[in-house]
Formats: sequence, structure tokens, C-alpha cells
Amino acid sequence: NDFISNSFILNTCDSTNTYLKNISMKNSTAEGTIVVANSQSNGKGRQGRLFYSPENVGLYFSILLKPFKIDLITSFIATSVATAIDKLYNVNTQIKWVNDIYLNGKKICGILTEGQIEIESQSPSFLIIGIGINVNNISINKELSNIATSLFIETKKSINRLELLSEIINNISYYANKISKGDFISIYRKKMFLVNSKIKFTRNNKILIGKVLGVDDDCSLIIETDNNEIINLNSGEVHIISV
Ligand code: BTN
Repeated sequence: NDFISNSFILNTCDSTNTYLKNISMKNSTAEGTIVVANSQSNGKGRQGRLFYSPENVGLYFSILLKPFKIDLITSFIATSVATAIDKLYNVNTQIKWVNDIYLNGKKICGILTEGQIEIESQSPSFLIIGIGINVNNISINKELSNIATSLFIETKKSINRLELLSEIINNISYYANKISKGDFISIYRKKMFLVNSKIKFTRNNKILIGKVLGVDDDCSLIIETDNNEIINLNSGEVHIISV
């Protein structure tokens, strides 16, 4: 794929995001570099959580991207992953804003985007997109089994991780180059399952409750707060209170 300039396939590492960050510090032409690992000893989730990354069963990789349309990047990556899974395994994944991917009500994929801001321009100098998918896991840790699942558990099919990876990369390069903003957001909207849910979220250090009305053109979440104010949420995490 001409989108990928360089690839590192590792048996194990601490975190593919960290590994790629180290490469990009040393090499400024690293855009399009991908790091894939068969396992991670310290897989990183959002908000300082750990991403459990056992060997042989999951797909763990990171890609260095040019930071175009930064506000849309996480949602366009989520769309790319979700549509790849749907096409290959004939399922109907859903997206929890911003970029968790769910199948049959449980999470199968998480995405961690990390970047570095250039002080002068206040724009990111690089972005690292880390994607972790539970693929062939035959079971999920007890503590997570009611919120997470794997493709194998849901489809009963043993999955070729390389085929999945290549479909995701094809989608990322397709959406990055061709799809107009509107096209990709309409797919994102269809897959986003929070509409009408009551959620709890944090904004300006305050915990708020509101109802999700939809997704705006910049992929922010439109929320009606419980004191009837309409606001847009650009980043962060939301917790579902009721659907
Ligand atoms: C989340 O759900 O909170 C995000 C999980 C992101 C996990 C992936 S696995 C590949 C890449 N390397 C990491 O250390 N994290 C991401």
C-alpha cells in the first residue's frame, strides 16, 4: 500500500505508540510508518489505563500520520476500522463517540491518539494513532467480560489478523485521500449509537449530565444538558447513564 512508507513488525514491545514515538523523534521523515506487535507488555489505553495485549490473538498497531483535519482524525480512523470489520466479517459494528468500536453491545476496539504540539504554530508536528482490537481471543478477562468482547467470540470465526490489518489500512488511505468530509461523517453518524442516550461527561472540570442529540459536522457531540442548554463536546469521554 503506498500509504505506508515504512513498517516495523515486532514480536513484542512495551507499546507500539511509544515505540513509534521514539522513532519519530529520531527521524523527521517517518510519516506513514507503521509499527505492529504480536503482544505489548505495557499497552496503553486512554486516561492512563492499561490496554490488555496478550500475544497471538489481538491486533496492536500504530501509524504516524500527517496531522490534517485534526478535529476529525479520531472519528475518521474509527470509521475506517468499523467499516473494515463490517465488510470482512459481515457484521454491524457501532461506534461510541469518539472512537470506541462495539460489536453486539461490547467493546472490541480502542483507539489512542497521541501527538506533539509545535510551540510556535500551536499545531501538531505529528500524530500517532494507536489501534488495538480483540481479534481471536477465545475469552475475555473476568473483570472485563461484561463490557468487552472479541471478534472470534462474536463471529465464531478464526480471523486472519493480517487480512484485517490490510483492510483497515486500505480504508484509512481511502478516507484520508478521497472521501469528502460529508461522506465520511454520514457513515460515522449512522454507526454512532449514543443518540438519545443520557450521559455523564466532564467539561471545564465540571461533571455534567445531558442527553445526546447527535454528531455535528466537526464530529463534536451535540448535547442538551439537564438545564436545557445545547452544547458541543469536542473531546473527552462520556459515560452512558441510560439509553
Ligand atoms: C482505549 O480503548 O482506551 C485505547 C486503547 C488503544 C490500544 C492501542 S494497542 C496499539 C497502540 N499501542 C498502545 O499502547 N495503545 C494503542
